[in-house]
Amino acid sequence: GGYQVMHGVMTLGTLIAFLQYTGRLFDPVQSLHNLYMDLVRGMVSMRRVLEFMQLPTQEATHAGHKPFIYNRTIELQDVHFHFDDQPVLRGVNLKLAKGKSYALVGASGSGKTTLANMLCAFYTPAQGRILIDDVPLEDIQLREVRSHVSLVSQQVHLFDDTIWHNIRYGNFEREPAEAEIERVIDQVGLNGLDVQETIGEQGVQLSGGQKQRIALARTLLRPVDLLILDEATAALDAESEATLFRRVQQLYREQTILLISHRLSAVQGVDEVICLADGRVVEQGQPEVLRQKQGYYTQFVQHQQDAALELTG
Ligand SMILES: Nc1ncnc2c1ncn2[C@@H]1O[C@H](COP(=O)(O)OP(=O)(O)OP(=O)(O)O)[C@@H](O)[C@H]1O
Ligand SMILES: [Mg+2]
Repeated sequence: GGYQVMHGVMTLGTLIAFLQYTGRLFDPVQSLHNLYMDLVRGMVSMRRVLEFMQLPTQEATHAGHKPFIYNRTIELQDVHFHFDDQPVLRGVNLKLAKGKSYALVGASGSGKTTLANMLCAFYTPAQGRILIDDVPLEDIQLREVRSHVSLVSQQVHLFDDTIWHNIRYGNFEREPAEAEIERVIDQVGLNGLDVQETIGEQGVQLSGGQKQRIALARTLLRPVDLLILDEATAALDAESEATLFRRVQQLYREQTILLISHRLSAVQGVDEVICLADGRVVEQGQPEVLRQKQGYYTQFVQHQQDAALELTG
């Protein structure tokens, strides 16, 4: 352009007009592109959120419409489940009394996470039933199940935002008060951190334990009847894990807690231990009673001690 003006082909006025036009053309194209990228990014995270909640896809197949009322027991009767042709649960019988705390233990791959997913109605039994105070889980509305049962797993989903907002956004149903957010931050031991600082994509600037504390804080904002922690604090050291479990037990005195952990130190304070093996519940009872028996639980204890010795020794 400048070259043509110097050689008299184009007037300065034409050049300025031309630059203004191309500028006008470029800016919208640029913003369209930016908008498109925002949309794509937005869609990806929205898809992740929807996948995570599993609501729209599942609601089509889950026709239950009853409310979730759990005052006495959740009972699993002869529950079977398999992935393709691989059986995982082969007749699980189990009762969870309201207000008690349970630890579910068993070897890796024994079906603990599968069982947790079934209690959330993510999976349906191939055979057998799950009853909530005598009402089959499949007759209960999914939205009701989601608001009465919470599952915190090892995998944490975080937004590239502050800790504060990550905890706040974990609640779709209502806007929590500031004081409530402060309370849960304190309860999970995140108060030493600057909760107003952004944490990076998927929380890259945080430790595994800090991410898990955020996930737990989100859950503590929502009162539920059944809280399932599936290795939800596995990234923490044994002592911090035990401390958090004790705190959760104090907070959920009236509710039912199901803890899944590989650490013996973490599960000792529960009311009852449930041992899963070969797709069935093979032992259930108070930890101190099971310790007297030469059964699965003592095997589990022994295994833990051997592993600890190997580590230290
Ligand atoms: N989505 C899946 N598709 C196919 N097989 C699966 C799937 N999820 C789990 N399995 C299989 O089902 C069995 C039980 O898995 P599950 O995750 O319930 O075990 P777990 O007791 O939680 O183990 P861990 O202690 O390692 O977490 C395993 O053999 C596993 O390979
Ligand atoms: Mg598991």
